[in-house]
Amino acid sequence: MEQEWRGNMIGGFGRKKEMDKIQNNVERQKMKERCEIFSIDITDVEQRLASFGEDGMLVSRFNDDADGYKFKSVRYYDEQGLHLNRFYYAMASLALKDVRNVFEIGTGDALSTVLLSQLFPEARIFTIDLPQGDPRFKRWRTKSAPETMRGKQRQERLRAENIITYEKNTFFLPSLDLPERFDFILVDGAHKYPQLAGDIMFAYNRIVEGGFLFFHDYYEKKASSCHVKQVVDWMAERIPERVFTFPMGTPPKKLEQKMALLVKGLNK
Ligand SMILES: C[S@@+](CC[C@H](N)C(=O)[O-])C[C@H]1O[C@@H](n2cnc3c(N)ncnc32)[C@H](O)[C@@H]1O
Repeated sequence: MEQEWRGNMIGGFGRKKEMDKIQNNVERQKMKERCEIFSIDITDVEQRLASFGEDGMLVSRFNDDADGYKFKSVRYYDEQGLHLNRFYYAMASLALKDVRNVFEIGTGDALSTVLLSQLFPEARIFTIDLPQGDPRFKRWRTKSAPETMRGKQRQERLRAENIITYEKNTFFLPSLDLPERFDFILVDGAHKYPQLAGDIMFAYNRIVEGGFLFFHDYYEKKASSCHVKQVVDWMAERIPERVFTFPMGTPPKKLEQKMALLVKGLNK
């Protein structure tokens, strides 16, 4: 079964100002008992290679001399609060070495896609979403149609050289011309059964040993519109790996929103 995060994990990286904002926010929002944030020394390569310990800890030291560092543009804090998902991807990018292939299921507005392309500049970022004409793409077709401002921004984000887009229903994933193995996968496409089960089976079976597999929106609530928790729990009962869950939303209102993560080969 899924392993509840015990609050002693969390690393991050960034400049002192940003890290202080996070620390303050965490303390103000009384999230502290659940969340202790350490920051990662982003100027020292050795320090950057944070690794999982006994309790899934990713801990590192802080260094405020971050200017000029290539990941500095990654923001996980803005006026809307914390975006802890970005924080976790950033940590994964620090922990993983020689990443070649990254896969995102569910491009959406390409916000994560562009972030992943920055976090893994040497890798190819594969991302898939429904074809624009697909009736199931309605939300994105209306809100993010190519001629809208949002659509234009989406296109702009997807222009990064290392991003490879697919416009396909993930039902066809096994027959697409994709790499055999991925070092990092983010499952954030359909949130309902049965589509999600197909995505999860594909992702689990194509991640490399030691690779990171994230599941967005592992919710306790909203079960009727979101089956991520049910399907991830179903998977967790069948695999040897531990599944960690982390808060994702802005505290305190959205504290129940979570992400799940497994590291292939990091067993229960
Ligand atoms: C929550 S959004 C992804 C957001 C994005 N990962 C981000 O962080 O900005 C989910 C996306 O999955 C897509 N999707 C839903 N069902 C799908 C399917 N069967 N095949 C491919 N994409 C699908 C939707 O069209 C939508 O754009």
